Amino acid sequence: MVGKVYIVGAGPGDPELITIKAARLIRSADVILYDRLVSEETIFLAKEGCELIYVGKHPGESSTTQERINEMLVEKAQEGGSIVRLKGGDPFLFGRGGEEAQVLSREGISYEVVPGITSAISVPAYAGIPVTQRHIASSVAFITGHEASTKTKGTVEWERIAQSVDTLVVMMGIRNLGNIAERLINGGRDPKTPVAIIEKGTTKLQKTITGTLETIEVKARIEGIKPPAITIIGKVVNLREELRWIED
Ligand SMILES: C[S@@+](CC[C@H](N)C(=O)[O-])C[C@H]1O[C@@H](n2cnc3c(N)ncnc32)[C@H](O)[C@@H]1O
Repeated sequence: MVGKVYIVGAGPGDPELITIKAARLIRSADVILYDRLVSEETIFLAKEGCELIYVGKHPGESSTTQERINEMLVEKAQEGGSIVRLKGGDPFLFGRGGEEAQVLSREGISYEVVPGITSAISVPAYAGIPVTQRHIASSVAFITGHEASTKTKGTVEWERIAQSVDTLVVMMGIRNLGNIAERLINGGRDPKTPVAIIEKGTTKLQKTITGTLETIEVKARIEGIKPPAITIIGKVVNLREELRWIED
């Protein structure tokens, strides 16, 4: 009998930031295909005999292609049982969960989506930064910074976003930080706009730095900030002074 696939969010890093449904499905899975940002403690929930397949993609390293992951999902489902496709944060926010669901849907394979706690909101929260706050920020955008390196290609219109959204949460953007900041300033955002970068948020290795649009790139370089990291741009960053509840 063909199995069922669960596309599951594993949360941002703190192993306790996982839903009860996700934990239940991980414990009962026959096969788990998991990504790089899934914590070890979460994988340890798997039952004895569960087939654990690492399919993480690491920038700059050869890794399992998305096509191969899609094929494996279909193959494993055809073998039967309960297959968990485990992803960092939420599977439908920059997680390619939608693409995998499309493959399953087209192949006629039964699946469920289990949303997870996204790093986009929880990582700033662990640094004392609410992404919205009454009178300070009424809008927030989650943006990939991955595309920013070329001004001609890419679909993110940084100059247009610059003044139209209060809080910008930039994911996968560390390598393009200088370019993103420059484009936002060119689009009319105040160069003194506060910015925070949080590396490995919600884990024991969480590290936060702050600056402004005009200083953050140099600060990030000096501090040696590396992925995974999230950049928060906007006045809400100032709230950290009062609201930080974790010492890095
Ligand atoms: C491919 S996206 C996946 C996002 C994920 N689906 C989510 O909802 O959190 C990976 C990016 O998420 C961000 N990220 C994920 N976990 C993080 C963490 N613990 N600390 C900081 N950033 C994190 C980083 O920007 C990283 O480059």
